Amino acid sequence: MADKIILGIESSCDETAISILKNDTELLANVVSTQIAVHKKYGGVMPEIASRLHVENIGVVLKEALDTAGITMEEVSAIAVTSGPGLIGALHVGLQCAKTLALMYHKPLIPVHHLSGHIYANEYVKPLVFPCLCIVVSGGNTELVVMDKHLSFNVIGETRDDAIGEAFDKVARVVGLSYPGGVSIDRLSKEGKHTYNLPRPLNDHTYDYSYSGIKTAVINLVNKLKQKGEEVNVPDLARSFQDTAIDLLLDKALPAVDEYNIKQVVLAGGVSANSYLREQVVKRLENKPVDVVIPPIWCTTDNAAMIAKVGSYLYDEKVFAPLSLSANPCWKIEDYRKF
Ligand code: KG4
Repeated sequence: MADKIILGIESSCDETAISILKNDTELLANVVSTQIAVHKKYGGVMPEIASRLHVENIGVVLKEALDTAGITMEEVSAIAVTSGPGLIGALHVGLQCAKTLALMYHKPLIPVHHLSGHIYANEYVKPLVFPCLCIVVSGGNTELVVMDKHLSFNVIGETRDDAIGEAFDKVARVVGLSYPGGVSIDRLSKEGKHTYNLPRPLNDHTYDYSYSGIKTAVINLVNKLKQKGEEVNVPDLARSFQDTAIDLLLDKALPAVDEYNIKQVVLAGGVSANSYLREQVVKRLENKPVDVVIPPIWCTTDNAAMIAKVGSYLYDEKVFAPLSLSANPCWKIEDYRKF
């Protein structure tokens, strides 16, 4: 049988990435060009700059991926590309590259939902086991997804306003920490104590979240202290915020383990790099008959290996898109077959 070689492309935010995956498991190339250093100057991702940098980088990244894998485009079976959600201009760059390759080399085009990629990144650690609870936490999303089988995404809860990563980034900015804020807060909170009392919005028995309230409470607190001429203890504030945000995340998510007879819990997305979250999820589930998968750090940030991985499953099911495929910045994960 011919080899199945999936070329994955990711450009939804500030990473231009291309990976090549052979026969579901053999990662021949995984090239990521990050723009973090550029966006750092602005305290967050500047969408227009991100799009332009993707245009500059994508050809170079593609060449490097093909050279590393030692294959030609003719040998590729299909092109899998993130077509949403994400920054519209950024998504279009990856998509246009994918469509051009699909047209030139007569390859199927596979649209991949970015968050399904973050979930499937865990398959580079171990296979998903069902029913599986996926705690998807990133700069743009906070979602609890239950999967009963491959490519079946049931969203049981999500944020009603800000994503958890967005709250980390905004809180960091208010106290003068650099972008990406989550990394700075995580690092600094190790030196601090939980001394600031912050609210726990939507602290109920639903699986939905609200993170804008915690963020606003921090902003108000910092302003009040400034008005009174008092210093903010930044490590203490970082620790207090991180404890509150992560405890709320897990307090609300983990009851789903019993309710849905969950066999495996996986973390996914940029915020899954958080050290307190990683430690707490293991600790809180140690007496339950449930497997916990913690993705390696390289899997938590945006990459195309995860896109190629989902692409490989979609290839088997022949989920192919026409060349008229466009980006969908608000694509829902349940609609991953609708494009
Ligand atoms: O998955 P990702 O690259 O973004 C989206 O695709 O939306 O995640 C980026 C987010 C940022 O908000 C960043 O601050 C956060 O992940 N992040 C963290 C940590 N590392 C990255 N948040 C908390 N703790 C961390 N160690």
